[in-house]
Amino acid sequence: VTKLPIFEGIEDYLKEDNAPFSMPGHKSGRGFMSTEQGKKLYKSLINGDITEVEGLDNLHKPEGIIKNALQLLSKAYGSYKSYFLVNGSTSGNLAMIFSAFNEGDKVIVERNCHRSIFNGIIMRKLAPIYIKNKISRRFNAPLSIDMEHFLQLIHNNLDAKGIIITYPNYYGVCVNIREIIKIAKEKNMFILVDSAHGAHFGFNDNLPESAIRLGADMVVMSAHKTLPSLTQTAYLHVSNNVNINRVDFYVSSFSTTSPSYMLLASMDYARYYMESKGAEDFQYCIEMGRKYIEKINLLEGFRVLSKKDLLDENPEDIYDFDESRYIINMKDGYSGHKLIAYLRKNGVQAELSDESNVVLILSPFNNETDFIKLYNALRDCPMMELISKSIPIKINKFPYVSLMPYEVADKVSVKVKLNESIGKICAVNIVPYPPGIPILISGEVIDKEAIAMIQYYLYNDVTVLGIENDSLLIVQEGILK
Ligand SMILES: Cc1ncc(COP(=O)(O)O)c(C=O)c1O
Repeated sequence: VTKLPIFEGIEDYLKEDNAPFSMPGHKSGRGFMSTEQGKKLYKSLINGDITEVEGLDNLHKPEGIIKNALQLLSKAYGSYKSYFLVNGSTSGNLAMIFSAFNEGDKVIVERNCHRSIFNGIIMRKLAPIYIKNKISRRFNAPLSIDMEHFLQLIHNNLDAKGIIITYPNYYGVCVNIREIIKIAKEKNMFILVDSAHGAHFGFNDNLPESAIRLGADMVVMSAHKTLPSLTQTAYLHVSNNVNINRVDFYVSSFSTTSPSYMLLASMDYARYYMESKGAEDFQYCIEMGRKYIEKINLLEGFRVLSKKDLLDENPEDIYDFDESRYIINMKDGYSGHKLIAYLRKNGVQAELSDESNVVLILSPFNNETDFIKLYNALRDCPMMELISKSIPIKINKFPYVSLMPYEVADKVSVKVKLNESIGKICAVNIVPYPPGIPILISGEVIDKEAIAMIQYYLYNDVTVLGIENDSLLIVQEGILK
């Protein structure tokens, strides 16, 4: 009988000794072991899990060591004010949305955004207008927003209070954030950036630019995704264009009153590390990445996309690319999902897969042995085992909006069969994974195209969140909970 299921599960995983190309950014503790200060921190991490005893300050009213650390953080990132988040970028996205907007405000937001943004929109009772995502036909992945559609939305919705943009996306692809910030300023709209995957940006000239330095109003970054910091840690940076009292209130409201000092100390360490070694170490990481792109791309069957591949593919919509990401692209007819499972069996932990790609997060703490393990696994890969029918991603036009997502939260919902749902109001988000872009958002009217699209993904064995046994939840009209 298992007595300690979680710990035993972790132990089993650690025994696999995988090359870490996934989160967290400290890569199995290596990030702490790379400096003398980090080694000391590593040794006292568990001991250091203390509470707000005398002399150790208070995250909710920082006046001592936490205040000092926050000032150093703000200086390192060039913000007006910065915050430590102990509940991830999720809490940062909620705090941004609540501080910047009021009930009923209209916001322009990318359809392919993180669930914390959708949830924030519901909780704050906002009226969202969605930006279309662009699909790369060549690489079969959602790689950017549709800039032309974005400009059109701005033009048609000058009463919107703000814009929420993901920069970069999960694949490391960056929209033209410079231009988007400029437009937001011209139109007097708040610009909020979910930079969960971009905490390392701006520290090396070969990395994309930092959104807060470019003048965004509020920027959230997960320290744990790309920096040597513990899982769950994130930063929020704000400019002097926002109401600081509101931000203080909402950040505090979405944070536990018992933040672990292990988390706080690791965020402080990640900032220290990036300031002292970030530029040099990320240079090493990028160069190692480039070296192995060349080697891997000589192998039959795989193509690690270079910055040039991506920029050539879509010059109007893709502005930059984070070279500390690998997108391993498979030819048509081969499955990214099968490749990620094969890599794991062969000692390589990747971050994400879609129908045609596997995404890896590289870091300065990945040594050459990790890259050799990856290369050898790909070289020895029996391609026959990765064959699957390739399913090209489809995008439809957005369905008609009948209710705001927050209005649906107050209504009773009932289950109906998909093929009997036409004309009804959807009560959940219907999201095929991959690509993760919602076909329907709660409050939208289920039309013929949406049903056909859902059936297309189900027929091709793609998981569609919100669909169970060919049924989905619809709003029982007129009935309040
Ligand atoms: C784009 C994006 N934003 C926000 C988040 C949430 O971050 P966290 O897990 O730190 O709460 C994620 C997590 O994967 C993400 O990919």
